[in-house]
Amino acid sequence: MIAILSDIHSNMHALEAVMEACEKMGVTKYYCLGDVIGYGPRPAEVTRIASQKFEISLRGNHEEALVTGKHRFNPYAAQAIDWTRSQLQSGNAITRMLHHDEKDNLMAWHKERKPFQLHDNMLFVHGSIYDPVHDYVDEPENPIESAQMIATLEEDFKGFDVCFAGHNHTPFLATPLGTITPHDGHSEYRLPKGKKAYVCVGSVGQPRDYDNRSSFATLDGDVLKFHRIEYDVQATMKEILEIGLHRFLAERLAKGI
Ligand SMILES: [Fe+2]
Repeated sequence: MIAILSDIHSNMHALEAVMEACEKMGVTKYYCLGDVIGYGPRPAEVTRIASQKFEISLRGNHEEALVTGKHRFNPYAAQAIDWTRSQLQSGNAITRMLHHDEKDNLMAWHKERKPFQLHDNMLFVHGSIYDPVHDYVDEPENPIESAQMIATLEEDFKGFDVCFAGHNHTPFLATPLGTITPHDGHSEYRLPKGKKAYVCVGSVGQPRDYDNRSSFATLDGDVLKFHRIEYDVQATMKEILEIGLHRFLAERLAKGI
């Protein structure tokens, strides 16, 4: 069973809760669709886990901003990525606590991230098939965008049946048959054989669908399941405020926005 995670955003409490749940479910591989860091308070620890445990970990727009210094972020995200960079550079107080070889490799690991990955009949991106790092897929309430995405998969991505994406922090499943928003009463789907599927897995560390539980998906054969896991939101909020990142970045976690 593969777990597909995205947008952890330096939220260690969320990542620990998700991985604990995954271990119990029998997950054997972790694929991450990017934005391991940014916004949150624990970039070094989350990077360490991602670099050690994730089979795939893509370059998101926050990794790109981290390593290039270029972005179009709002002031809150910009402050957070500058702070993140300062934490991941060797010689910093947190990275000094890590193993000697490891501290020099944290930034290098982020620099090596690739913008997309192909595996069997699956395509993994952070943004979308139009731009794997930046393109933002709207909420599933916009059926036209989902239909366009499926049409593009059919026309231009003939070898690939399923595309997994993150970035929008909102889980949904789009197929030629329509678009579905998973919920607690209905979260497991068999991917339609021979048909295209576009899967947004939501966000582990900063969900934005008014549900503050971590969101991710698992794939077991052709069975796709969306999951929501509670974590200690208050603990991450406290850490954000303690290190001096903007209050909004803490408050949005409680609201799931
Ligand atoms: Fe993100």
